[in-house]
Amino acid sequence: MKKIGVYTSGGDAPGMNACLRAVARAALSHGMEVVGIRRGYQGMIEGDFVELKAHSVSNIIQRGGTILKSSRSQEFRTPEGRQKAYNRLREAGVEGLVAIGGDGTFAGARTFYEEHKIPVVGCPGTIDNDLYGTDFTIGYDTALNTAMDAIDKIRDTADSHNRLFFIEVMGRDAGFIALNTGIASGAEAVCIPEKETFVDDIIQRLEQGWMRQKTSSIIVVAEGDDGGGAFEIAKKVEEKIKRYDTRVVILGHIQRGGSPTCMDRVLASRLGAAAVETLQEGLSNVMVGLVNGEIKHTSFFKACKYHQTINHNLLNLVEVLST
Ligand code: F6P
Repeated sequence: MKKIGVYTSGGDAPGMNACLRAVARAALSHGMEVVGIRRGYQGMIEGDFVELKAHSVSNIIQRGGTILKSSRSQEFRTPEGRQKAYNRLREAGVEGLVAIGGDGTFAGARTFYEEHKIPVVGCPGTIDNDLYGTDFTIGYDTALNTAMDAIDKIRDTADSHNRLFFIEVMGRDAGFIALNTGIASGAEAVCIPEKETFVDDIIQRLEQGWMRQKTSSIIVVAEGDDGGGAFEIAKKVEEKIKRYDTRVVILGHIQRGGSPTCMDRVLASRLGAAAVETLQEGLSNVMVGLVNGEIKHTSFFKACKYHQTINHNLLNLVEVLST
């Protein structure tokens, strides 16, 4: 393989730039040429390409976001869109691809590979940590720390005013951020999509705290929780019990930005270099991940279908530690 393309797609995640740098530098060190594809699949369709040299990826390991930019392309969901993308890649002489993104990115890569047989290897880049085949995704650790810092700050003001806060964190389909930041910030309860939320359980926890003269409380809610998000759950709690001075905070996209943590930079660097080696070995249609500290390959099919599972012991831990 003489020339590869690399792109970032879907929701951005801190560490994508570090991964991109590793892909480019590893490929160049193996004598390959590297093409950066801007704006993910949409840029692939439009031939929005830029040649990457070693200096093109200088001074980006510490930067959040993605210098290649990202998008969620509707056109790539159509066979015509994918055909256009394939034509652009052939014109540019690109023989293999590294995709940095989450499940949507890999679902697209899988279809593209099946239709056009262009080798693709994926690096898991999403703050959600929901992919099967890696213990951690790139950006997850940074997002956890950003959310935890924010919750700590809210705890200060909650405590000063004796208030109850419902704090919504990201995670449309996964509760990893909610669960782990909940534990790390001493939340009274966490609500996640993987477990049904019962308002009466939340009230019971709050009332137990009230009896112990607890003056402030934090409930962390994943945005995709079946109870309907932080505003909805807060409303249901307030309808049943009036004594709390309640506030709701949605942390939102702040969780996707910022300089990546050391852990994310190292993870991104290892996975980016491993993706290039995987392409060189002739493997394709797989995601590279880190499992128990070792690089592992998982098919795109499995990575997207099985998802990472929540450790239910951690949910129990929230309860035990907040009593
Ligand atoms: O990247 C995944 C994610 O952060 C989800 O947790 C969240 O629901 C979604 O992206 C938000 O996406 P958008 O930026 O398109 O609103």
